[in-house]
Amino acid sequence: MADKIQTIGVLTSGGDAPGMNAAIRAVVRQALAKGLKVKGIKRGYAGLLQEEIIDMEAKDVSDIIQRGGTILQTARCPEFVNPEVQKQGAEICRKHGIDGLVVIGGDGSFQGAQKLANLGINTIGLPGTIDLDIACTEYTIGFDTAVNTAMEAIDKVRDTSTSHERCSVIEVMGRGAGYIALWCGIANGAEMVLLPEKYDYDEQKIVDDIIAARKRGKQHYIIVNAEGIGHSTEMAKRIEAATGMETRATILGHMQRGGSPTCKDRVYASTMGAHAVDLLCEGKSNRVVGYRHGEFVDDDINEALAMQKQIPEYEYEICKNLSLK
Ligand code: ADP
Ligand code: F6P
Repeated sequence: MADKIQTIGVLTSGGDAPGMNAAIRAVVRQALAKGLKVKGIKRGYAGLLQEEIIDMEAKDVSDIIQRGGTILQTARCPEFVNPEVQKQGAEICRKHGIDGLVVIGGDGSFQGAQKLANLGINTIGLPGTIDLDIACTEYTIGFDTAVNTAMEAIDKVRDTSTSHERCSVIEVMGRGAGYIALWCGIANGAEMVLLPEKYDYDEQKIVDDIIAARKRGKQHYIIVNAEGIGHSTEMAKRIEAATGMETRATILGHMQRGGSPTCKDRVYASTMGAHAVDLLCEGKSNRVVGYRHGEFVDDDINEALAMQKQIPEYEYEICKNLSLK
């Protein structure tokens, strides 16, 4: 059993996500409730290397649960893949008395946490990304807010598409993963959803489908295109040329990463933040918190990183079946 933890550090890394603030708040307040000290590390691993480390008290996380972004700021720090740089990171943690570290981010950030754990710093990862692309969990901090933001935006585009009898290609985020696109496909009743995991790049099929839908009197045609496929502007031009239906591209972009977190993101991020502190207090390290089958769980980071995630077939099937073309 490891020595009792005394000081917990917390950082956010990779892309920000709504709900990260709720997780930071929970880490700080749960740790203080257990009599521990807390230090906030600014700008992810980059800030750790620069020793941008601040003491955190309960009031420092007041009035943030409802705010998007991350009060600790976030950064990408490519040099952290270097083992010598990782050793510096571990030394800096020790210098500041940080014996437990909560890393809020995605798979890349967990790899940094794994390296620090190997160097003797107890680490716990919390899944923070709008992309939902972390295999060990059915929930990631920020996805719920982002997908609701995208859904509302797509509803708005749909109104104007219907009025003008247009086709709209709407690009949503997700990096190489199609979860935001799939959920919007279902939630917005899109005529077509293109996921990087499933797309066969046969644009003629889309063109034929649009022409058939127009013949049946369909007033709009919404294509939700995942960022992993991209090229929405060019796709829209080709579709317009091939179908004769006026077509516009809308790339939703970073608006999906901002905004006040939904209730679900606030509650789940808070629970995960508190759970991370509990795990550290139990002497656990190199673990990532997840949510599966209705329960909060934790897995070894090495095992979590080795897990594979696939687009759920049933949801993909119904997404296609439920839209009336
Ligand atoms: P995410 O955490 O959202 O997946 P990135 O993949 O950009 O985002 O990773 C965030 C940061 O995690 C990187 O900028 C880097 O500092 C750190 N990181 C990524 N991969 C590794 C690795 N193999 N070893 C150590 N640190 C890593
Ligand atoms: O991982 C979150 C995410 O928003 C992805 O959906 C997107 O591909 C990427 O980050 C964008 O990164 P950046 O903010 O560096 O442009």
